Amino acid sequence: MEEGFRFFKLNAGAKIPSLGLGTWAAAPDVVGDAIAAAVKVGYRHIDCAQIYGNEKGIGSALKKLFDDGVVKREDLWITSKLWCNNHLPEDVPKALDRTLQDLQLDYVDLYLIHWPVSVKKGSDAKPENLTRPDIPSTWKAMEALYDSGKARAIGVSNFSLKKLGDLLEIARIPPAVNQVECHPAWQQTKLQAFCKSKGVHLSGYSPLGSAKNTHRVLQNPIVNTVAEKLGKSPAQVALRWGLQMGHSVLPKSANEARLKENFDIFDWCIPEDLLAKFPEIEQERLVKGAGFVHENFGIYRTLEELWDGEI
Ligand code: A2P
Repeated sequence: MEEGFRFFKLNAGAKIPSLGLGTWAAAPDVVGDAIAAAVKVGYRHIDCAQIYGNEKGIGSALKKLFDDGVVKREDLWITSKLWCNNHLPEDVPKALDRTLQDLQLDYVDLYLIHWPVSVKKGSDAKPENLTRPDIPSTWKAMEALYDSGKARAIGVSNFSLKKLGDLLEIARIPPAVNQVECHPAWQQTKLQAFCKSKGVHLSGYSPLGSAKNTHRVLQNPIVNTVAEKLGKSPAQVALRWGLQMGHSVLPKSANEARLKENFDIFDWCIPEDLLAKFPEIEQERLVKGAGFVHENFGIYRTLEELWDGEI
């Protein structure tokens, strides 16, 4: 932890800004405005993915910000992710090239395997298209992207402790990040301890509980009590809790007032006595990935298998 929680240092050496803008479910026509507003507020980290279907809009917004001199490329941290239908080693570099073209960039700061799940080349992530993932060979192709400089760091997303451990056993370049659902109502305590012991940074997506379930976090009585005591909003408390646990946090918002609210998490802290209340919060994984589980297709027959019991 350094510089007032503003950055976390990765095993690859780079420093990842601890607050990033999530872009999942940000419509292509509004995402550009959200990016521009966020960068003007001070965000320096944008979390993207090819499957979100909005990388072209993000690319146009970034180009305008660079052209207008609002921010420089080297001052931004841009993450993107390899979708499940591009896991074959020959498809991995093509997928990143497409993302780079859409984002109008020469490199991403971080490229992640989006899920430990694969589907047939070019197909939708429907159960009948699920295939048996071969993470070691996909990872080799990710390592080649790192070597090429087009991805300055590589990592994974939605990996259980076991899957991350298996990857660490065979990786030439260890993953720098595991990006997973993480918030006060799904705290990932064991995974965070494991990541820390292995030098892998845990980045938390849906830090407010995700669009359909924000009430699970923002209306939680403990989060609200802490918020009232500190004179902060429940969202700010949830985000600040993430920073103090050592996670980077990736809240999504397309609303300027909330972008500002979510950015105001650096100049204060949750004191130890209030932090101690968070373990009492009831835990439930909210983003379950049920669509990746099927009795007859793919590799995971149950959610237990997808998450190796972390459910
Ligand atoms: P909006 O985009 O209209 O601001 P998560 O980041 O956990 O996936 O949650 C995203 C959801 O939380 C979105 O629906 C977003 O709506 C909403 N949201 C973002 N910031 C705040 C905030 N400060 N207070 C309440 N809701 C928020």
